[in-house]
Amino acid sequence: QDDQFKKVISHAKEYGYIFQSSEIYDGLSAIYDYGQNGSELKKNIREYWWKAMVQMHDNIVGIDAAIFMHPTTWKASGHVDAFNDPLIDNKDSKKRYRADVLVEDYAAKYDTKIDKEVAKAAKRFGDSFDKEQFLATNPRVLKYTEERDAILKRLGQSLEKEDLADVKALIEELGIADPDTGSKNWTDVKQFNLMFGTKLGASAESATDLYLRPETAQGIFVNFLNVQKTGRMKIPFGIAQTGKAFRNEIIARQFIFRMREFEQMEMQFFIKPGTQQEWYDYWKETRLKWHLSLGLGSDNYRFHDHEKLAHYADAAADIEFKFPFGFKELEGIHSRTDFDLSQHEQFSGKKLQYFDPEENKNYVPYVLETSIGLDRMFLAVFSNALQEEDLGDGKSRTVLKLPAVLAPTKAAILPLVKKDGLPELSKKIVDELKWDFNVTYDEKDAVGRRYRRQDAAGTPFCITVDHQSLEDNTVTIRHRDSMEQERVAIAELRDMILKEVDM
Ligand code: GAP
Repeated sequence: QDDQFKKVISHAKEYGYIFQSSEIYDGLSAIYDYGQNGSELKKNIREYWWKAMVQMHDNIVGIDAAIFMHPTTWKASGHVDAFNDPLIDNKDSKKRYRADVLVEDYAAKYDTKIDKEVAKAAKRFGDSFDKEQFLATNPRVLKYTEERDAILKRLGQSLEKEDLADVKALIEELGIADPDTGSKNWTDVKQFNLMFGTKLGASAESATDLYLRPETAQGIFVNFLNVQKTGRMKIPFGIAQTGKAFRNEIIARQFIFRMREFEQMEMQFFIKPGTQQEWYDYWKETRLKWHLSLGLGSDNYRFHDHEKLAHYADAAADIEFKFPFGFKELEGIHSRTDFDLSQHEQFSGKKLQYFDPEENKNYVPYVLETSIGLDRMFLAVFSNALQEEDLGDGKSRTVLKLPAVLAPTKAAILPLVKKDGLPELSKKIVDELKWDFNVTYDEKDAVGRRYRRQDAAGTPFCITVDHQSLEDNTVTIRHRDSMEQERVAIAELRDMILKEVDM
């Protein structure tokens, strides 16, 4: 698993997806830059989300709020008082960890054990293996599941009660060691606020303390009435937004899984009080469907219902994804009640109510939120796509099987040789196709090596122009995943590729 994760990180760098930020100065921890391919993949994920959430829903609109917000926003939202992580220091190594993550990582080891049991049984029973049934009945698996759930439940309850002494007790009882040094000599658990502060204004006396937003959601809440009134929106309706958020995260060893500067894609859905359960179920299902539509494999997702609720929520579930380091949160679906709007009413002194013409009364709407990290989604897609494929005869290939709709470059145009007018015809094809999607031209090296390069970069189609092309205006199109090739008319290329890559 560690090896697979290391491969993901080095492949992301080698193929221009992700670089360490300010690398020439030895980088900044938990901060990353997206390269020429990464920025395209990230943009495509954002657009895929935006299309599903905004374009396809008549009652959801988008906004783009500023990163800086009035400082009172964060008092009202509860972030000044309650946006904390429980930290623990190791007295020997002097390293600092998130206490909850130490326990979660420990619990995740049971998932690895369960996976091993499943793999063993699948091998033993072959085609007749029924995974669901195995998970539900195998005594060893049941024991692992039970032990894992008991640990997570106890953690959730202690955190909810803010019983930090119990979190420490749990770490000691489980015998959790410093992952780097193995030492079990821990300090007490303390709370640490995650917001970054900065200053607005030139002179020291007049400057105002500001925070970099730790979530995009508050930009939506404070604009709720602006959008509702100017867009004449009727409840139920949603406001969506994508944008940067900042958190001074302590754990900084999971690549783009947990970053200090990251991007969120959030949607707040404003509903009539009392209908939250129905909408909670609806959005859980709708969001899972969105994930499944990308074809990363339904086995790689599961729901995790929260025991421990954030300060604003009355119900919350995560969609977890199987990352190279185990199942971890990818997206959150939160029933936020009227917490945020009521808090902003109180702190601003402005009414944030909706007049419901059907009920003929005013109320503060309830809110159902879906919140996903764009970078985390990137990691899910990218790590799932990276595969080492055995081609037989001792040959193998590295292939990045990105969903075609998300791939940075959709097709590579390759002249078989660098002469006889093949480059010219290839470039003509590039010029025709580039209006509709990203294409690239490559004439260097033997065509087999060029195929491998495009496989590793994630390009779903390679189009090879040969001497026959000059005679009959056809080319070969090679499919990345199956490596199958077919002969098609140049005039058909555009529609054929669009059919696969259009969102
Ligand atoms: N508005 C609600 C909210 O922000 P959250 O569970 O704190 O909820 C939502 O964050 C999502 O944002 C997470 O599921 C995760 O995908 C992403 N996220 C949170 N912190 C992150 C970080 N430090 N780095 C990358 N993604 C992060």
